[in-house]
Amino acid sequence: MAAATSTRATTFAPATVQRIDSARHPAARRIADVLRSRSERPKVFVLDDLENIEQAVACGVELDGLYATESSVANGPPALIGVDPDVPVHVIDDAVARSLFGEQKHSRIFALAHSPRSPRLSDLIETTGDIIVLDGVRLVGNIGAITRTACALGAAGIVLLESGLRTTLDRRLIRASRGLVFATPVILASRAECADFIQREQLSVAALSADAVDALSSIGAVTRRLAIVLGGERDGVSSELDALTAHRYAIPMSPNVESLNVSVAAGLALYEHRSR
Ligand SMILES: C[S@@+](CC[C@H](N)C(=O)[O-])C[C@H]1O[C@@H](n2cnc3c(N)ncnc32)[C@H](O)[C@@H]1O
Repeated sequence: MAAATSTRATTFAPATVQRIDSARHPAARRIADVLRSRSERPKVFVLDDLENIEQAVACGVELDGLYATESSVANGPPALIGVDPDVPVHVIDDAVARSLFGEQKHSRIFALAHSPRSPRLSDLIETTGDIIVLDGVRLVGNIGAITRTACALGAAGIVLLESGLRTTLDRRLIRASRGLVFATPVILASRAECADFIQREQLSVAALSADAVDALSSIGAVTRRLAIVLGGERDGVSSELDALTAHRYAIPMSPNVESLNVSVAAGLALYEHRSR
């Protein structure tokens, strides 16, 4: 397994690359297997794009191999900062890459990486920041945006309930979070597991709902850390989580708007509570 925490840059320079010119090449078959995997605990996963690869490596993710399409290196090899130069590098024929990705999003530069350990609810016990609970939020773009915001605003982690995701190593989530899914714990849990954790750890729960009576500006009165619950795009906060809620807050809006995007509401709540 190649270590991937060097400060040196890896490039796709011609002398260091292996070429993949057929879908039958062993490296191409390996990519196809990883892309087809439906596993909840994949051993290897796909990282797309330079920025996400570099972010993942900075968070300690170990790379198995780097891949760039022929056309993406035509105007000079890209350099990846922080990636160990011993990681095997491949240039892949564009048509072969297209056939491997098929209906999935095509990437011009990507890596296969070794899956880090999945974070668990118990990882949040010794932490101090607020915990974001997404109760039925299913749009991966929203989950990714909230991950990024949570990371930026010092949240302890994010718990995903009924998200529809099999794994947090989902390509779409990695891209939508700009690779920050590796920087902050993002945990898949059931509503029962989350409720049990909240009760055991005696966490104070605040739910965000457009029809709550108290305005979000009063969240600063709560001095303890909070589990901040936000509801799904369609149904809002579930009755299971609502039953645990001590505080409910609304972000006042113009009357002709029904609700905010959930990622906007999450950012405002984290910011308001943090700046208490
Ligand atoms: C798109 S909204 C869901 C709308 C859904 N029809 C409902 O009844 O809640 C997604 C989530 O964002 C949060 N949210 C959106 N607008 C809000 C507001 N004005 N005040 C507080 N929370 C809000 C809530 O947590 C909500 O469940």
